[in-house]
Amino acid sequence: MKIGIDSTIRCDALIIGAGGAALRCAAEILEKRPASKVIALTKVTHPQKSHTSTAQGGLAAVDPKDPLDATIYHMFDTWKGSDCTADQKVVKRICESAWEQILWLENRGMHFSRNRDGRLSKRTFGGHTRNFGEASVYRAVFEADRTGKGIMDTSWGETLKKGITFMNQTIGVELLIDSGQCFGAVAFRQKDGTFIRILAKATILATGGSGQVFRVTTNCRQNTGDGLALVLQSALPVMDPEAVQFHPTGIVGPGILASETLRSVGGILRNRDHEPFMVNYAPKMKELAPRDLVARAIESEIREGRGVINPDHNIPHVWIDLRHLSADVHEKQIPEVSSFFKRYVNLDTKTDLCPVRPSNHYHMGGIPTSEFGEVQGSDGNLINGLYAAGECAAASFHGFNRLGTNSILELITMGQLIGEMACSHMESEPDAAPDPQPRLFDEQFSRYFNGTGTESIGRLRNRLRSTMTEKVSVFRTEASMNEALSVIDEIKQRRQHTRLTNSSLMMNQELLQRWELDNLLLVAESITIAAQYRKESRGAHFRDDYPQRSDEFNHHTLVSIGPDGTYLVGKREIDLSIFKGGGEYGDKFGFIERTY
Ligand code: FUM
Repeated sequence: MKIGIDSTIRCDALIIGAGGAALRCAAEILEKRPASKVIALTKVTHPQKSHTSTAQGGLAAVDPKDPLDATIYHMFDTWKGSDCTADQKVVKRICESAWEQILWLENRGMHFSRNRDGRLSKRTFGGHTRNFGEASVYRAVFEADRTGKGIMDTSWGETLKKGITFMNQTIGVELLIDSGQCFGAVAFRQKDGTFIRILAKATILATGGSGQVFRVTTNCRQNTGDGLALVLQSALPVMDPEAVQFHPTGIVGPGILASETLRSVGGILRNRDHEPFMVNYAPKMKELAPRDLVARAIESEIREGRGVINPDHNIPHVWIDLRHLSADVHEKQIPEVSSFFKRYVNLDTKTDLCPVRPSNHYHMGGIPTSEFGEVQGSDGNLINGLYAAGECAAASFHGFNRLGTNSILELITMGQLIGEMACSHMESEPDAAPDPQPRLFDEQFSRYFNGTGTESIGRLRNRLRSTMTEKVSVFRTEASMNEALSVIDEIKQRRQHTRLTNSSLMMNQELLQRWELDNLLLVAESITIAAQYRKESRGAHFRDDYPQRSDEFNHHTLVSIGPDGTYLVGKREIDLSIFKGGGEYGDKFGFIERTY
């Protein structure tokens, strides 16, 4: 089979992805420059199937009329939550523009939950406090426990009204980069099995997360780290890939998300003896400590023999107890999660203890960008015309541990900002771009069809995912990561012996899975190499053999692939502009101790 470009099209903005960040960015471009031709690719059958739709808890945003809260507290919580590794200009920008984005959504019809007096309801989440850690604060606005769906409905409607073009079941397979400028990408449209060269003045990567690298994850099936793989294949770096978040409460069995909302409304974590153990790990914040601490507390209870083992599945876990909550809370605040417990493990949250255990949830690391979302190369230079937004990007707002409800905030604020940036960039670009030619995808896809042997793609994926869940998880050691790297090497050899039984390019799920296997391997290897390099513990990256944070690692990690195929590790400075700027609260933004 001859694989090559089947057609070429041009547009103003090409967005690879169609989740929350992509749609907010598209809406901004189409509001600011209504005549723009914007194309958004989605890997799935419909933008509404994007992972953003599954977000439950809410969006953190300080209401300027709230007498108890202040933007500086949100900035402090985000910095402390990040284990002092977020970039401070980004923290300031996002926290300061948060409420504006709530109004944008509200004015376009999002159905935020409201109090009896008609004001937006708010809930608290782990690590969100007032007065620099004094007590929990109610900061996150939400739509019941299906906030992501509300965001997707609203932003999807906006983009449709303004004339976006969606290409469903279409993936970006190669970036067209020449002399430090991006001119678009090659896309593969599964429906007709064609490769399309899409030339764009601005290209935005918004491909979402990489949770499928792990066997136990809250992430949708499509989150295979495709954007990270695309940049690595273009000799660009990924930043802080070792910063992977494990949500404390995945539903045992499917691993899907049991929202932090459960703890926000008063849910209590209990061990085998029904003891509420969080007081031993975070005496002040208890269940409302940040996620990295709560996830480690649960895994520590299990490691020390205080977990519960259900003989039906032999997966150790702890309980979340919601039985004492009022019927009103069950019905109005957590209807969706309660229905998940019923549907997946046949338990009633009103009367039963519910089994939970940490589940991979979010990638803090990603494609390094400037504070404006412009993609950076390993040398720190910006790639002209290339942007990254949402979970695939690292600006970095979350550092090494993200606070709950800060991700939806980030994707909305950065999506909007990148939309603005793309508009100004588009103004300065000529209509007819040069004629960049792809270099990689034809050889790559031909290789998939030419493979011979009896290895199963599914089995290789499962082996990789189980290894990452067992060896590079909440707790890591040099030895466990060596084991992971040797399994990764083994799978890299074995993948050469996979054969596609379906030789068509059209709607070939085996082909997609084979391509995803390569992406998963690239991301898994980057995570593990960076985690080995970082000989300390920081946020969600916890090493049993180096349990303390170390000043030696007060920087971001950059991982890229050199010309000979070996991984290279570099550094990017953490932006400390608030700390260095001094001022009234400057000292709160140093390398502070992290207790809750
Ligand atoms: O727990 C949750 O509802 C998840 C929220 C988040 O990841 O921000």
